[in-house]
Amino acid sequence: MYLTSREERILKGEEGYARQKAMEILVALGEIYEADRLIPVSSAQIAGVSYTSLGDDGIEWLESLEGTHVTIPAMLNPAGMDLENWRRMGIDPEYARKQLRIIEAYKRLGVRPLCSCTPYLLGMVPMFGEHVAWSESSAVCYANSVLGARTNREGGPSALASAIIGKTPNYGYHLDENRKAGLVIEVEAKLRTISDYSALGYWAGKLAGSNVPYFRGLKGADNACLKALSAGLGAAGGVALYHVEDVTPEHKTALVEDVERHRFGEAELKEVYLDYFKPIPDHVDLAAVGCPHASLDEVKEVAEFVNGRRIREGSRLWVFTSIAVKEMAKRCGYLDIIRAAGGEVYADGCMALAPLRDMGIKSVAVNSSKAAFYTHLLARVDVYFGNLRQCVESVMEE
Ligand code: F3S
Repeated sequence: MYLTSREERILKGEEGYARQKAMEILVALGEIYEADRLIPVSSAQIAGVSYTSLGDDGIEWLESLEGTHVTIPAMLNPAGMDLENWRRMGIDPEYARKQLRIIEAYKRLGVRPLCSCTPYLLGMVPMFGEHVAWSESSAVCYANSVLGARTNREGGPSALASAIIGKTPNYGYHLDENRKAGLVIEVEAKLRTISDYSALGYWAGKLAGSNVPYFRGLKGADNACLKALSAGLGAAGGVALYHVEDVTPEHKTALVEDVERHRFGEAELKEVYLDYFKPIPDHVDLAAVGCPHASLDEVKEVAEFVNGRRIREGSRLWVFTSIAVKEMAKRCGYLDIIRAAGGEVYADGCMALAPLRDMGIKSVAVNSSKAAFYTHLLARVDVYFGNLRQCVESVMEE
């Protein structure tokens, strides 16, 4: 891979240890994927934030980078808890201490302590064709597909390296030739709820692997639908980019001849709810909404549904979102309504990364296929998947 003379100097350590380590990561990646050079990126979204996934070794590595500073706007993926209201969540103080140490380490590097998988709802909105280095799979899918920006699925270290150097190796989804469709999915099922889009994403992600799916039959899909579709696709497979006919910005140039075709009908939709996951029972310990982090409209929908009602004794309702959306929800009065019902809106955290078992939570209802997959995998609790109303109803008093 070609390096400029300044990049060579950084690699030799002439600009300090941390920049040298960052450059080593980018050069190693570039050589593995046969990139021709490094290209500038305008923002980074960095995974590897929760203490659950980072652990003590990760904290030490982060702290070893101290002394350098990121050179482009950079923010974080969700943490294992609400950074301010972790006590209310019931988080163990020792876990909280380590989680806050991680956030402080990132802050000293100049990374914004905003923890969210929806950077595009927080003002980090790349333009069409803009190159970025984002980590979280649903955000990557959304950026590439809905915004037409360009990013690979970065790991935490490579996104941080890009944030420090301001560049990424030029390979994968940064190149035109890798943005063509690899399979077509004709959607014949009637998608009625956001969770139906999430189910479609999961089904298609399993089928596509790391290929680029092209959907037909989703003409009315709005931002909320595409956010859910992005998360399902990113969770089930390695999908980082998809196209939707007449909806997403590259759909006209994405289709090539002779690609395989598949059909997603009512039977396939039902299969995701009943066979891939378990349907929501009458009662669960926790109903968790906000995967990816809830938009203001989703918080509003929960508030309207629980308005004037109460959550059952012993159960909990948590809505996960970003600090920005939480503040807006507070101003709009949605937070008060959800709290009056006995629920809570948490910022910065993620249901799959929270130490649920340690908190005595054994069963969780979610309205996102990604949440269903990861909460079961990481938090090791029983997880049930349905639409938002079924999910919230499972913790409400009769
Ligand atoms: Fe976000 Fe966690 Fe879901 S990172 S996409 S809320 S699994």
